[in-house]
Amino acid sequence: MIGKIGYLDLHSHILPGIDDGSVDWDMSARMIQAEYRQGVRTIVATPHNYQGKGQQDNERVRELCKKADILAGKIDRSFHVIPGNEVLYREGIPREIEEGHILTLGDSPYLLIEFIPNEGYRRIRQGLRELVEYGFCPVVAHMERVGALFGQEERIDELIDMGCYMQVNCHSLMGGLFDRRTARLKKFIESGRIHFLGSDCHNMTERPPIMLDCIRKLYKKLPKECVDRLVNDNQEQFLQKKYI
Ligand SMILES: [Fe+2]
Repeated sequence: MIGKIGYLDLHSHILPGIDDGSVDWDMSARMIQAEYRQGVRTIVATPHNYQGKGQQDNERVRELCKKADILAGKIDRSFHVIPGNEVLYREGIPREIEEGHILTLGDSPYLLIEFIPNEGYRRIRQGLRELVEYGFCPVVAHMERVGALFGQEERIDELIDMGCYMQVNCHSLMGGLFDRRTARLKKFIESGRIHFLGSDCHNMTERPPIMLDCIRKLYKKLPKECVDRLVNDNQEQFLQKKYI
């Protein structure tokens, strides 16, 4: 089931002591090992980036990431950790990127953008449009949490047509038969509205890496070609820094 390049985890909090994710290197090492067991071969480390956090933090993110990448390389030479940020949306993101205060995903045009759950659609659309106009590929982090999008297929389509991408958390896809959120997300995957999975792992207890558990479940419940597109085609495009 694991593709030739393994899986991509586009959203993780595996770097120690920098946000509400891993607390120390011991936990980070265990999370990296768990990601490997879950079939992941590229982890994008995406610590939270809020307004007011400066350049210094991202220099640290890059340093921590290099160390995490060395740990991953000791497990398997083809296993990597690359730097990124989960950027809470605010105005002026392009300038902050230029000034080095915000990291794109693996230094590609992709950018992981988080919205507060009750953010209004007008602001979401305007903000994302600006990022696309600047040449970025915004990926909406855990889109299932954004109230203005989750129940609104036509809005999701509008953003995708504009040049945006949608990421879903693995945990949100693990609900049972009567879980309405999981059911809706599966429909979105079937209709090609979801582009990336992310573990959004924060630790090894409440929010561990569960990529393979999630993908296995999707293959059981959805047409193979839909899951292939989600976990193979899109991630390959990303890793080659191409547009989907
Ligand atoms: Fe996150």
